[in-house]
Amino acid sequence: MTHDNQTTLVPPSSSTPATLPTACRTGVVATRVNHSVPKKMADGDDLPLFNKVRNYTSASQVRATGLYPYFRTISSAQDTEVMMNGRMVLMLGSNSYLGLTNHPKIKAASMAAVAKYGSGCAGSRFLNGTLDLHIELEQRLAELVNKEAVLLYSTGFQVNLGVISAIVGKDEFILGDKSNHASLVEGCRLSLGEFLRFAHNDMAALEARLANIDHAVGKLIVVDGVFSMEGDIINLPEVCRLAQRYNAAVMVDDAHGIGVLGEKGAGTAPHFGLTSQVQLIMGTFSKSLASLGGFIASDAATIDFLKHNSRTLLFSASMSPASAAAVLAAVKIMTSEPQRIARLWQITDRLKKGLLSMGFDLGASQTPILPVYVRDMIQTFKFCKRLEEEGVFVNPVVSPGVPQGMELLRVSLMATHTEKQIDFALDKFQKVGRELGII
Ligand SMILES: Cc1ncc(COP(=O)(O)O)c(C=O)c1O
Repeated sequence: MTHDNQTTLVPPSSSTPATLPTACRTGVVATRVNHSVPKKMADGDDLPLFNKVRNYTSASQVRATGLYPYFRTISSAQDTEVMMNGRMVLMLGSNSYLGLTNHPKIKAASMAAVAKYGSGCAGSRFLNGTLDLHIELEQRLAELVNKEAVLLYSTGFQVNLGVISAIVGKDEFILGDKSNHASLVEGCRLSLGEFLRFAHNDMAALEARLANIDHAVGKLIVVDGVFSMEGDIINLPEVCRLAQRYNAAVMVDDAHGIGVLGEKGAGTAPHFGLTSQVQLIMGTFSKSLASLGGFIASDAATIDFLKHNSRTLLFSASMSPASAAAVLAAVKIMTSEPQRIARLWQITDRLKKGLLSMGFDLGASQTPILPVYVRDMIQTFKFCKRLEEEGVFVNPVVSPGVPQGMELLRVSLMATHTEKQIDFALDKFQKVGRELGII
């Protein structure tokens, strides 16, 4: 998989336009297409530093086809239907798995927090930016994931950068699944330790890596709980068994597991009954928990170490009061209304069965993330655009979010989708899938 930020090359013989980024795992878009006529720039017109900018043509090549699918503008709340270009479309591309982003109690909690604490904390947790609200949320999350302590960060990306780089030092090792999220990859690259990858969910490959490292040396195995594009679940029992055998620690990024797996949505480790064998559990608030921010859960000593050594925590302003209050309210709803999670799985089952029966390839998905494999970039963009014209929003994922040849439409469910909406989507998938010869 190519979920890092390395340059993606257009194969010299390829007739397809250059690759584009997904709006997901990686942030860097680069091709080595050489354009003899540089684009006009307002500033820095002839500075060599900006050659890469002048030579960057991937996005404009796709725009020229009329199929460009990114940065689409929504002018309503993130709900099962959203307003785009003056009309409502069915949202099948959100990470709001529990459908809570527009929940009245969560919005009221955010507004009350603004009234009480103001709009921001104007400082880092370390100095002037710790509120009683942050402490309450940390305690609540520690209970949820059954760990001694929790530390909040301002985004999930910052958690992964700041935790891995603080925990894994020089002459130590990190072993990461090749499909890990970009933020994990960047955290691993930032660490002074040696970063080794193993094939996606391939436990023999992980063991081969571990077997080559001295037993006494520090090692961290880093994995997503639920993989954000493929929708499959990490083989955590085997990861933990290998970790014990080879004297390694385990970190699970549960961005897509919280609210989806485990009792009361507590995530992947509780789903497998393995919380005590996972030393670091990471979560984000930008998915099921309807807000913005992230956390790391661990034992009290590790959290205390991070509080004093994790630079993305120490040198960045703390979570806003509105965001923290929203998460507290969302956790309350998630844990007291388990029927939401049951409903999410019910509605997932309906869509999954329908798509499979039409002949779509959903890969190894085991969760409410359903990858519809198209395996061609332009076809993926066409499929996405035609679905939008038919009133359905989904996300196209192409290289480097997935390897070339594995292009897909990422479909994701919310607990609040209705049967009628799912059946509408199935109709449209069938219509457009046939039209484009995908089924
Ligand atoms: C698996 C995974 N980890 C981490 C993140 C980063 O989280 P945040 O959006 O809070 O920065 C994301 C979000 O895209 C994700 O999908």
